[in-house]
Amino acid sequence: MDVLIRADYDQMSKTAAGMIADLVRKKPDCVLGLATGGTPIGTYQELIRLHREEGLDFSNVRTFNLDEYLGIGRDLSKPYPLDQSYARFMYEELFRNIGIPLENTSVPDGLANDPEAFCDEYEKAICEAGGVDLQLLGIGGDGHWAFNEPGSSLASRTRIEVLTQQTLDDNYELFYKGAGFSREDMPHFAITMGIGTILGARSLIMLANGKRKADVVAAALEGPVTSRVTASAIQLHAGKATVILDEDAASGLNDVDFYKHTEKIKAML
Ligand code: PGA
Repeated sequence: MDVLIRADYDQMSKTAAGMIADLVRKKPDCVLGLATGGTPIGTYQELIRLHREEGLDFSNVRTFNLDEYLGIGRDLSKPYPLDQSYARFMYEELFRNIGIPLENTSVPDGLANDPEAFCDEYEKAICEAGGVDLQLLGIGGDGHWAFNEPGSSLASRTRIEVLTQQTLDDNYELFYKGAGFSREDMPHFAITMGIGTILGARSLIMLANGKRKADVVAAALEGPVTSRVTASAIQLHAGKATVILDEDAASGLNDVDFYKHTEKIKAML
């Protein structure tokens, strides 16, 4: 696991976008796993800039998103903040700005008639696409990856999950409140890739910024591997895992000097 520490959110986002862009250039038909939330927005903005200004070509890229609220789905008849689906978030924040054919993008279908059968189909679709080359991840205030809340099996696959109060509170403050919704409007269930699904990706990039994430980042990276902090499963990943943090999110870590030293030495290789 590489831990890269950047001065601020902007630098964190540019580092992540640069790594994704490198993969897209090297493997134009790569499979990207994508995330929603406040954290990856800067990364998506940089990818949009690279597409517009440097011609980064997403036309053959395939994407799978981590999760979606159960009971809602993209509804283009509503203005964006009134459509709180993750499918709409991805459409607005990335897909419609990078020239990727929408049929190449998959977000779990929160409106599926049979959500459990859908979860199995999602797993199958990821396999049929050849697996995820690079999965982008944030980390929740309760330590979750995607919507794998504390107590989720570290071997879990795509399934329906109940959201914790902390996740409901975090997402209400970040998204629902500003769009004029009340707390009662928040969905309490989601479809989420499992931790086992995520660990199947050939490489991972996990992002975190801000003081608010410092403790949970330290628990995930330097604490025990535990289903209480599902992002701690990064310690089990068999491929290339990169954590990119701003100084604030890194401020609870014990080994900051070693992470910085390692990055410097590896750059000389
Ligand atoms: P955030 O969410 O990016 O909005 O902080 C992260 C997450 O829940 O994974």
